[in-house]
Amino acid sequence: METPYLIDTHAHIDMLENVDEIIQNALAYGVKKIIIPSVEEKYFEKIIQIAEAYENIYCQLGIFPSEAKSWNDKIEEKIKELSKHPKVVAIGEIGLDYYWDKSFVDEQKEIFKKQILIANELNLPIVVHDREAHKDTIDIIKEFNNTSDVIFHCFSGSPEMMRECIKNGWYIALGGVVTFKNAKKMKEVAIEIPLDYLMLETDSPYLTPVPYRGKENQPAYVKFVAEEIAKLRNENLQDIMIKTTNNAERVFRI
Ligand code: NI
Repeated sequence: METPYLIDTHAHIDMLENVDEIIQNALAYGVKKIIIPSVEEKYFEKIIQIAEAYENIYCQLGIFPSEAKSWNDKIEEKIKELSKHPKVVAIGEIGLDYYWDKSFVDEQKEIFKKQILIANELNLPIVVHDREAHKDTIDIIKEFNNTSDVIFHCFSGSPEMMRECIKNGWYIALGGVVTFKNAKKMKEVAIEIPLDYLMLETDSPYLTPVPYRGKENQPAYVKFVAEEIAKLRNENLQDIMIKTTNNAERVFRI
């Protein structure tokens, strides 16, 4: 049997210096595959180039909610065109963010819907960013998503919300926050979630897990997320690795 390995399903490695070293370090920690999300249109090409340069690096295309005002028809065409690339495995990260700026909620909702429809058309999963917008996010996905698999990246909801997501067949990706001492809610989610719906991520360079909290994050550290979840659930680390890796490989088809 192959040695179990990890997948970092969400790492902005395009924002990090020395991608080569970062990827080598990830491999040394048993992190074999990495998916890079998009935030803005101007980085699409750069992200695809990184994915092309390495065997087990993949990417997502999409416009982040805070960039909603940049949306135009040309971006829509560009996403559709570039998504034909075999290394593009999802539309993301897309969603709603009421934490940073609530002055253009309508625009955020509009481009979220549009990108869900693009993902449906292209037969790709959606990777959802939801910050302090739980209800609207859930409502829009329920109303507009027909066929795409849904992954809540850096899930920040309650155990009740997690249950509702699972009921809809949506996936939950947990990251470094679960290792924070005061993250009581997140630890409850980690304990309760059925493993069939769990994925792991770092959201590098942000949200660095303990024991490196405060330093710059990198995909290697998804290992600490897996270890914390195994400890919380009182389960074997290898089982967590196998299950979360299988989920990511199946849903993202990687
Ligand atoms: Ni992100």
